[in-house]
Amino acid sequence: MEPMHICLLSAMPEEIGEALLHLDNIQTKTFGDFKLYCGIYNKDNNQTPVYITLAWSGWGKVSAARAVTRIISSSFYRIPIKLILFTGVAGGVNKNLKQWDIVLPDSLIQYDLDARPIFDKFVIPSLKISKLKPKKKIHELIYSGLVKAKNNNKLINFGKINKGLIGTGDQFIANNSDLKKLINDIPNLDAVEMEGASVAQVATQENIEWIIIRVISDNANESAALSFTQFLKQYKKHSWQLVKEILNSL
Ligand code: ADE
Repeated sequence: MEPMHICLLSAMPEEIGEALLHLDNIQTKTFGDFKLYCGIYNKDNNQTPVYITLAWSGWGKVSAARAVTRIISSSFYRIPIKLILFTGVAGGVNKNLKQWDIVLPDSLIQYDLDARPIFDKFVIPSLKISKLKPKKKIHELIYSGLVKAKNNNKLINFGKINKGLIGTGDQFIANNSDLKKLINDIPNLDAVEMEGASVAQVATQENIEWIIIRVISDNANESAALSFTQFLKQYKKHSWQLVKEILNSL
């Protein structure tokens, strides 16, 4: 069986943790200020290795879109990328979400995209939809893999595993009045971050499967900056654990 080639992307190094230490035969490529790493990952319980292209995009929708475009057009090992997996932290909007809870969104909205009156609010003109949804099969596979890992005590540092709606925009949300506006616009919003829907848009337009996975770092309110900074220091020690369980679930 031909190995699967997966793109592993996050905004910051802390969000993929020690992933690089677990890849063999690493090669690198540099494009201006963007560096990507490609290596081979041997899963815990499977003979077929996974080819991984790994990078940190930097914050925001433009950086994320640029990173995805670069990665899918620079093919290592001549095997096309089958799945883009973007992971990192998010601000919790749904009051039931706590730090360390995992959100595997089944839809994402670019909450700062507004091409009215030509298109409805949030509609992406090139796709004519507002909600980006991952393919059901891969979403279910990873969701059930994570639930199983959690039940087997392999994600002990993490909280509940949730599906949900994520909003992406070029803003770090750190006050209640911005939060209220967002909830007013999108009442069932669960969490906010700055890259996911951008990655999802590019991948959808390029016909590549994608999954976004986020861990709650803060509550997007006045204490968000402090919570986020403190959380990241802890999170970088455990983020590989999550990535590893996702890879093992595929
Ligand atoms: N990522 C983590 N926390 C966030 C927040 N409060 N706003 C936007 N992106 C985030």
